[in-house]
Amino acid sequence: MENFAEKIEALKRKKNAVLLAHNYQIEEVQLIADYLGDSLDLSRKAAEVEHDMIVFAGVKFMAETAKVLSPRKKVLLPRFDAGCPMADMITLEELLDLKAEYKAAKVVTYVNSSVEIKAESDVCCTSANAVQVVKNIDTREVIFLPDQNLGSYVQSKVPEKKIILFEGYCYVHNRIKSHEIEEMKKQYPEAKVIVHPEVRMEVIEIADEVLSTSQMLRYVNQSPGRQFIVATEQGLLQRMKREHPDKIFLPALKPRICSNMKRTSLRDVYDSLNEEKYEIVIEESVSRKAFTALDKMLQYA
Ligand code: 13P
Ligand code: SF4
Repeated sequence: MENFAEKIEALKRKKNAVLLAHNYQIEEVQLIADYLGDSLDLSRKAAEVEHDMIVFAGVKFMAETAKVLSPRKKVLLPRFDAGCPMADMITLEELLDLKAEYKAAKVVTYVNSSVEIKAESDVCCTSANAVQVVKNIDTREVIFLPDQNLGSYVQSKVPEKKIILFEGYCYVHNRIKSHEIEEMKKQYPEAKVIVHPEVRMEVIEIADEVLSTSQMLRYVNQSPGRQFIVATEQGLLQRMKREHPDKIFLPALKPRICSNMKRTSLRDVYDSLNEEKYEIVIEESVSRKAFTALDKMLQYA
């Protein structure tokens, strides 16, 4: 088998490129990433790094976010078909209709959205800072999109605001049910239950902690506990097991896989660097408006 890891290293040096990878990527890709993290960590890194090129092992909205925050760098998404179904659930027309209906509201958009939707938003947020961002908004009414589960969670934490939800959801997290957690808890009564805020409210209500993927890792790093029921995508559990072989990490009944996050292989990363594909290109006026919403997010949180 070809040694893609070595070839990728050599190409990265030659092209002054950096590899950013999300916590849900396959293990081989996680292992060669320069930075591995959640959406917020990776957005910050994309804005900070001084490389000429960013290869983003993740899904399209993440690579678009990197491009908006670093417009002068070449940003590559190794698989053009790695999308996020939730990001595609809202159309521009639907957003414009909501804005027309709720004129007094400001729009907070989860980064799991297209760049065109971000461009029509007041501020973006990630799973790590959604509560903080909504708290900081200077209107009482907030249109929150596209994830209704994350929006409902934020509403429970910020009761002073009136949140108008959109009916988007993540097909990976929305399938996790509270009875699955309860069954796992019967088998592992000592386990801490940590859940991603894209899960349903019924799951959030029985969780010990509600955290982004990187916040989950920090929680596990600091916790004296030895058993964790982790309600999120399987890639994160693999990372936890690798970094804490002495602890036990259990999925909510069965492993949940985001097929889009699993598309990128080492060969795809190599081809991406070698052929400089698939380059993210965003129209300048859209990019400028999306930058304002993303930059505000980085300031708020
Ligand atoms: P994080 O930002 O928490 O890593 O989540 C991204 C995501 O797509 C969750 O499904
Ligand atoms: Fe989108 Fe869900 Fe996959 Fe995250 S896990 S990228 S929200 S489909």
